[in-house]
Amino acid sequence: MPKAEFIARQSRRPSGLLGYIVAWVMASETAQENNRTLDHLAIADGDRVLEIGCGHGTTLSKAAVCADNLKLTGIDFSDVMLRVARRRNSVLLAHNLLSLDHGDSAAPPYETRSFERIYSVHTIYFWVQPEVHLREISRVLAPGGRFVLGFRPGDDGAYAAKFPGSIYNMRAGAEVEALVATCGFASVQMHSQQINGHAMNWIVAHNDDT
Ligand SMILES: C[S@@+](CC[C@H](N)C(=O)[O-])C[C@H]1O[C@@H](n2cnc3c(N)ncnc32)[C@H](O)[C@@H]1O
Repeated sequence: MPKAEFIARQSRRPSGLLGYIVAWVMASETAQENNRTLDHLAIADGDRVLEIGCGHGTTLSKAAVCADNLKLTGIDFSDVMLRVARRRNSVLLAHNLLSLDHGDSAAPPYETRSFERIYSVHTIYFWVQPEVHLREISRVLAPGGRFVLGFRPGDDGAYAAKFPGSIYNMRAGAEVEALVATCGFASVQMHSQQINGHAMNWIVAHNDDT
């Protein structure tokens, strides 16, 4: 049965009381995909790390212990999600190891070449013009930096049909790979793994060293 539209809208941008419940459920529902994303990201000591659509902030808490001397940033355009993420990461915030920003990934408020590592999970479905977001990600990624994009591909039509097309744009893995390749990255690779019985894909892209 397809997801109800009102739940799909909440996934795109959680709001109100229901948004807090969605944040709580999402944090455990997407944990495996996000853990694997951190594996692909290979965070190193001293990296500046950005999560786009950081939602509940659970993955940023995990990123914080991947290496030493990190500077973490999360951006999301949902007030509810940012409140949840701030509560979850109060210690990191108090020690200035993390900043959580309100903003749209179509126009992230960061200087060019600001981050060695950028990741985003379960967000591309909601980007109407994904190339706008991807070009901005390439802009703020440092030379030699790595970007990991995690998403459920639309290749399995029956599975994709569970996500209302009015809210979700379920793209085939090869389509997303080709899209990322046109947005300014020097190299792009796709990885796939079954999680909870369905394919999950990760695009791993790099900027060149110069
Ligand atoms: C489905 S949730 C995924 C949250 C988290 N990344 C995860 O994997 O559990 C999508 C999140 O991305 C945020 N989001 C979607 N589009 C966005 C945009 N254009 N700019 C900033 N945040 C966005 C939503 O507010 C929401 O918190």
